[in-house]
Amino acid sequence: MYCVRKVTDDLYYVGGDDRRLALFENIHPIPRGVSYNSYLLLDEKTVLVDTCDWAIGRQFIENVEHVLAGRPLDYLVINHVEPDHAATINEVVLRWPDVKIISTAKAFTFMKQFGLGEDSRAITVKEGDKQSFGRHEFAFVGAPMVHWPEAMVSFDTSNGVLFSADAFGTFGALGGRLFADEMDFARTELDDARRYYCNIVGKYGAQTQALLKKAAGLDIKMIAPLHGPVWRKDLSYFIDKYQKWSTYTPEDDGAVMIVYGSMYGGTESAAQYVAQQLAEKGVTDVVMYDVSSTHISTLIAESFRVSHIVLACVTYNFEIYPPMHSYLTDMKMLALQNRTFAVIYNGTWAPRAGDLLKSFCTEELKKSKLLDPQAHITSAADADDAEQLDAVVDAVISDIKG
Ligand code: FEO
Repeated sequence: MYCVRKVTDDLYYVGGDDRRLALFENIHPIPRGVSYNSYLLLDEKTVLVDTCDWAIGRQFIENVEHVLAGRPLDYLVINHVEPDHAATINEVVLRWPDVKIISTAKAFTFMKQFGLGEDSRAITVKEGDKQSFGRHEFAFVGAPMVHWPEAMVSFDTSNGVLFSADAFGTFGALGGRLFADEMDFARTELDDARRYYCNIVGKYGAQTQALLKKAAGLDIKMIAPLHGPVWRKDLSYFIDKYQKWSTYTPEDDGAVMIVYGSMYGGTESAAQYVAQQLAEKGVTDVVMYDVSSTHISTLIAESFRVSHIVLACVTYNFEIYPPMHSYLTDMKMLALQNRTFAVIYNGTWAPRAGDLLKSFCTEELKKSKLLDPQAHITSAADADDAEQLDAVVDAVISDIKG
């Protein structure tokens, strides 16, 4: 059965939901699924904007055939060649053999590498180029590294629709809804939007900033991304989130995240004590995560959200506890910066995690700060540790208050 939605009078959503994929990019859990968005414009020419992952190929083709209703497909605009959006290019070409493909030079190189498309149908565009399809004209805007180097976005100058590729995407199946204003976005979608941005595009904050600056010069009325809902109202809400995330500015100033790595509960107990004291002393946004049982994509997303991070960690083979090490390595890889850290470390005989955590916070992340003092737990935390844990709590609160 075709499943399409009208976006504007002559623009249709022809993408679909994938609820069977467990791990996006084979890394990130997506228990709420994901949508692969594609849009079809019916103008004097017909224009398909991006394709879909193979997983929903049958639904996608059925959607396109239904909206075309027998018309030929004249153009396929490819904004991003990652296979979750480009895998069905060959299927489109097989069914509509006269279609021309519009994309960047680098995208055509990547298509070849993935065995997609052919030179004979390629129309190469670059920043500032325009293409008219009748009533509608697309202006093409480079978006390198948002999220791959070949990426571009397409702006419909006639109605202000920005086809934003991976930018402004969100994890989560659409489930029949299409527009962000058809959801309680802040309550049900924002966490997954943040987890999508921070883990997929988070490393490329400078490039996202460059795209946002270009977008600021366009009269955007609607944002149509490649994942998640279309934005037609209150665009500034989501653009503001992107401003914060891409500049590594804490989204929730004064929020504290406690990440603990604990083998037998001693470090966990110290972390719990710190969380309780923070709450008791008036910090209203305190979250705790067990680094061993929380997916790293959630830890990263929360790290982008909060301003203060308490790391509580055991020593393991004279190193940082491996799950904590993975989290910190991912944090560095994604270029997170501008955060304030407190450290609680544990070691029964050689508490080396302390020095390693301290040097990570001060040397590995840009513009980050380590609060003094740190707390050193020896094996199990007990009442004798209260004083040094209180000192950590006071340091965090004092820093939040500025
Ligand atoms: Fe949704 Fe970078 O692909």
